[in-house]
Amino acid sequence: MIDLGNAIPFAQGGNRKCFIHPQDSSKCIKVIDQESYSNRLKNLPWHKKIRGKMSFNDNHEEANAISKIIKNVDQSSWKHVANILDLLKPVWSEGLVTELIKNEGEIAETLEDYLFKFGLTEEIKESIHVFEKWLLDNLILTKNIIPHNLVIKNDGNELVIKIIDGLGSKAFIPLPEYFNFFAKRYVKRRIELMWSRINWDLSGRKGDWK
Ligand SMILES: Nc1ncnc2c1ncn2[C@@H]1O[C@H](COP(=O)(O)OP(=O)(O)OP(=O)(O)O)[C@@H](O)[C@H]1O
Ligand SMILES: [Mg+2]
Repeated sequence: MIDLGNAIPFAQGGNRKCFIHPQDSSKCIKVIDQESYSNRLKNLPWHKKIRGKMSFNDNHEEANAISKIIKNVDQSSWKHVANILDLLKPVWSEGLVTELIKNEGEIAETLEDYLFKFGLTEEIKESIHVFEKWLLDNLILTKNIIPHNLVIKNDGNELVIKIIDGLGSKAFIPLPEYFNFFAKRYVKRRIELMWSRINWDLSGRKGDWK
């Protein structure tokens, strides 16, 4: 078991704390914040409660989704995820180990930070289009795609968008998981909503983004 001791997270979202792996700085360990997890479970509507606790465990869902993607022998289909480096240790409830996305030693910035700093440049627009194509070509199911859940890896030739949170389907009835027709429709809708959210961020977050 990995002891995080008094480690300070390098980032924290609404549900998880993210740590640099104490034995390998190329890895990230995500630990679910127990308080926000219990509150989230308590406040679920009944129809979501019957789906079972584990479907609201972000580490569990993300691990399942990434392992499905990296099962694909064609490694180009892994391009936009932080590869899972360790599926079993530490166990879900304790943390999920993935690749830590970095640029020249620095932890990669999110698309949200980029957009606030530089706006929608031609370069990032092109990267977002490449990411969209990957989502559609591989029928990658996601929750709503929010710019703070995408980070940017500069691989020398291009800025590569990587999704580090929000993999898995949000559909109550899991048709997109079983039928390509529904999956395509579902992914197209997520892309449309991703653009609404990007434009909302860029416009100073006025009104509702959906
Ligand atoms: N693999 C990674 N590489 C680089 N940075 C990361 C990685 N994973 C997470 N981060 C950073 O940590 C932040 C929080 O992580 P994450 O989104 O997984 O937490 P969360 O609690 O699930 O978020 P949310 O509030 O969206 O539910 C991200 O916005 C990102 O800045
Ligand atoms: Mg997040």
